[in-house]
Amino acid sequence: AGHRETMAGVSVTASEIEKAVEVLRAGGLVAIPTETVYGLAADAEDPQAVGRIFTTKGRPPSHPLIVHIGSAEQLDDWADDVPETARLLAERFWPGPLTLVLRRGRRVPLATTGGLETVAIRVPDHPVALELLTAFGGAVAAPSANRFGSVSPTTAEHVRLELGDDVDYVLDGGPCGVGVESTIVDVTGPAPTVLRPGGVTREDLEAALGRALAVPTTSTVRVPGQHPSHYAPRARVVLVAPEDLAAEAHRYADHKVGVLLPPALSGTAVDAHAVVQLPDSLPDYARGLFSYLRDLDHQGCDLILATLPDETGLGLAIANRLRRAAGPRD
Ligand code: TXA
Ligand code: MG
Repeated sequence: AGHRETMAGVSVTASEIEKAVEVLRAGGLVAIPTETVYGLAADAEDPQAVGRIFTTKGRPPSHPLIVHIGSAEQLDDWADDVPETARLLAERFWPGPLTLVLRRGRRVPLATTGGLETVAIRVPDHPVALELLTAFGGAVAAPSANRFGSVSPTTAEHVRLELGDDVDYVLDGGPCGVGVESTIVDVTGPAPTVLRPGGVTREDLEAALGRALAVPTTSTVRVPGQHPSHYAPRARVVLVAPEDLAAEAHRYADHKVGVLLPPALSGTAVDAHAVVQLPDSLPDYARGLFSYLRDLDHQGCDLILATLPDETGLGLAIANRLRRAAGPRD
């Protein structure tokens, strides 16, 4: 005991967990590893601590946070009138990259839910996050540990580079295994609704529920520079058809172009400043996606050309994130 090995072989000591618990109890912010992305965690029951999440991220206080709990058994401590569908999904997918929107329980302050009478809850599938939640005893509210509008962090290093001293403590649990955020399902209405595609696939949800699910489409409006420009310089993302990729790269020759080269175009010569050859498997692609975008930024690219994967399996979440990266950011 005292050590937990993560997939990457990074271990966190018992004293690091203790320190993180102390910071949470004192109303501070702890960056925590989850299987999806790193979260910026605070005591979910402490409105002031939760307020610091919003100021640190530069996020409008009306944007609700996800409440992370240690096990499905605690669900009724944080949510009211939990429907059978929610229990079924929790049983099937927790711990895991699924967030359920439920009726807000009394313990969750409105500061955490952005003033809503519903609350988003999940049990993260990461040994370090689970150990922290067990030691802390409560729940932590945690959005992705990035500035508002930026790319989610999938390593502790990403968090340190982006948030620096604004976060009180960082737990390093190695690189995130899933790499895209959780799938959010609203179970407060007559039928479950997917609010955000993510680490649990639509196909797996439909199989568990025995019914088809509607999934929101993300608009593809390309409005460059609409995200706040006072953040770190970031490449503009432009979505192109695979057959146009080489020509588009050439057309933007006066830019420092970064390219996310899909497996189908493997080996194609592209005239660009930097090229990322994407992996064949969707889980590998999802795991690497945010790192690729950050890497291209760091290599000085001011424009990233990307194609959309087929929107099946994790391809749905990947395409959703690419569309958002290419449009106005949230
Ligand atoms: O994988 C994840 O979900 C990561 C890790 C850290 O757990 N967290 C994450 O949090 O992605 P964040 O804050 O970046 O995204 C939270 C999303 C927001 O889009 C928010 O609108 C939605 O969850 N959300 C939270 N509470 C909600 C509610 N009561 N009703 C509808 N949507 C809600
Ligand atoms: Mg986020």
